[in-house]
Amino acid sequence: MTRLTALLGLELPLLQAGMGAVAGPALCVEVSRAGAGGTLALYKEPPARAAHLVREVAAAARGRPFGVNVIPEVTGPDRCLEQLRAVLPELPRNAFVTVFGLPADDAARTVRAAGHPLVVQVGTAADADTALARGAVVLVLQGTEAGGHLLGRQPVESLLATVRSRHPHAVLAVAGGIATGEDLADAVARGADGAMAGTLFVPAAESAAHPEFKRRVVEAVAEDTLITSLFEIGWPHRPHRVLHNSLTAAAERAPAAFIATTQVDGRPYPVPRYSAAAPGVTTTGRIQEMAMYCGRSCSRVTAPRPAALTIARIRREYENARASRADSHTSTFPAPHRIQEK
Ligand SMILES: Cc1cc2nc3c(=O)[nH]c(=O)nc-3n(C[C@H](O)[C@H](O)[C@H](O)COP(=O)(O)O)c2cc1C
Repeated sequence: MTRLTALLGLELPLLQAGMGAVAGPALCVEVSRAGAGGTLALYKEPPARAAHLVREVAAAARGRPFGVNVIPEVTGPDRCLEQLRAVLPELPRNAFVTVFGLPADDAARTVRAAGHPLVVQVGTAADADTALARGAVVLVLQGTEAGGHLLGRQPVESLLATVRSRHPHAVLAVAGGIATGEDLADAVARGADGAMAGTLFVPAAESAAHPEFKRRVVEAVAEDTLITSLFEIGWPHRPHRVLHNSLTAAAERAPAAFIATTQVDGRPYPVPRYSAAAPGVTTTGRIQEMAMYCGRSCSRVTAPRPAALTIARIRREYENARASRADSHTSTFPAPHRIQEK
């Protein structure tokens, strides 16, 4: 349907964002089986465990393409390369690699040499140029509407316009503000080849997010989110969009303390107050004080349901929106109303 679907072998031009503590094997597999681009978050996973998780996804994905996601800024370039070297031999031929921020030259080269499409998320036009120079075949352009850590300062529509005019033939997906098929059709009409969505999938039945995190995303509207730099322990110097909570509302910094415990590979890890870690299903403690990354698209994110149903709904909405746009060129009927915000 678009260059993105053709390039990655998808049925719908939609990628699910890799999301630490949220996008484990279950979500990735369900999204991919439903025809979109499921993605496994490797975040800080040790290389051996990352390889194990990839094998689990590959065995369950029924041949559908899926992605693995790395964050060089969090792991550091050496660990990122180790993660890639561990997982690349486990990836099926049709799998792709998504990188949050620019990959180092050797990481990019390693992915390309293994024959997998390199998908790089950027937030500025300059980084878009660099990512293409390093061999990215898909750019994900992240706007400031997005949930999670922010790579730039431009809203998605203007970033897309800038990068599209500089790179008329590049395969571009947008990230930020996508929760419905209408949103996706809008992005494609503005010159994107597709989109990446994160917040949309946080409440999915297969997401590993903590139930309280899911509930808050479903109930939230865009105005309940804000950009802050508060949750910097473990990932400093990168502003992020989160749901407001008692820490974001406080006038003064609260004392340093461990506020929760999370399990990684069966082992408990203490979570300090102001940690970048998001609450997952195995986290216990003061969940409300943790970083709940959430984009402005939450206004249009509804009750938790299996990811396959969400993808089916988006596919229907997208096809209807595309068809009515095509019709509106030839008839005088008005376009259908947009889906109402909550
Ligand atoms: C809960 C959450 C966790 C995220 N974690 C990651 C991550 O581990 N790796 C990554 O590449 N992007 C991550 N992101 C950012 C996404 O890649 C993407 O920019 C964002 O989800 C798009 O905006 P949206 O959430 O409004 O759809 C995360 C986003 C959210 C909401």
